[in-house]
Amino acid sequence: MVAAELRANPSAVLGLATGRTMEAVYKILVKMHREEKLDFSLCRTFNLDEYVGLTPDDPRSYRHYMNEQLFKHVNIDPRNTHLPNGAAKDLDAECAEYERKIKRCGAIDLQLLGIGKTGHIGFNEPLSALRSRTRVKALSPVTMEQNAALFGGSRNVPHRAITMGVGTILECSRCVMLATGASKADIIAKAVEGPITSMISATALQWHPRCTVALDEAAAGKLQATEYYRWIFANEPEWEGYR
Ligand code: F6R
Repeated sequence: MVAAELRANPSAVLGLATGRTMEAVYKILVKMHREEKLDFSLCRTFNLDEYVGLTPDDPRSYRHYMNEQLFKHVNIDPRNTHLPNGAAKDLDAECAEYERKIKRCGAIDLQLLGIGKTGHIGFNEPLSALRSRTRVKALSPVTMEQNAALFGGSRNVPHRAITMGVGTILECSRCVMLATGASKADIIAKAVEGPITSMISATALQWHPRCTVALDEAAAGKLQATEYYRWIFANEPEWEGYR
């Protein structure tokens, strides 16, 4: 989907995510750049989030992750890549400026999303307002535990992050949420089939007019209406390119 978007619209504005799930996505995009000349030269990118207190050159920062996983391996212009600066002196001003930068580019054409164990998209932890904008958000203990490995224990994970809000994310033209592995099965079932609630920010995607959820069998393991989804995947023309 990302490659199709870039080929149809070389100056696309891509919304990007970090985390383990996305590593496989970026590997494939790098491979497509090398082998099929997938062109990133005109595209612009905005990442969902960044830890507060980490400088962009900190190896644990999401800026560093993006440089290592994608940016330095493709022909993207670094000036076109955007992440919130978690080390900014005035964090509120940084958040407001991030929103303005997105607006100046028009809108995000395709937003990639992972899902955390709390059901967060970006770092929109439980009770994130469904209309929230880019802001500083405190991370929940579950999320700090989820991201502990990189910091040598959850006690060392920064307590706060700058994240696009749920409202910011909902304004993208199209979004794709990805989840893999059995550990995501419970939260995916709630996010996809449960009621919309600010306790699980991913449920807000049910409101989005053009949202695709891409799952492996394990992450899809607790969905209720699987038989129906399989029929749609096998028979609806919109899925032709992915079968
Ligand atoms: C990261 C982000 C998070 C992750 C989510 C899943 O930029 O916004 O919402 O997508 O925590 O992380 P993984 O893929 O590591 O399970």
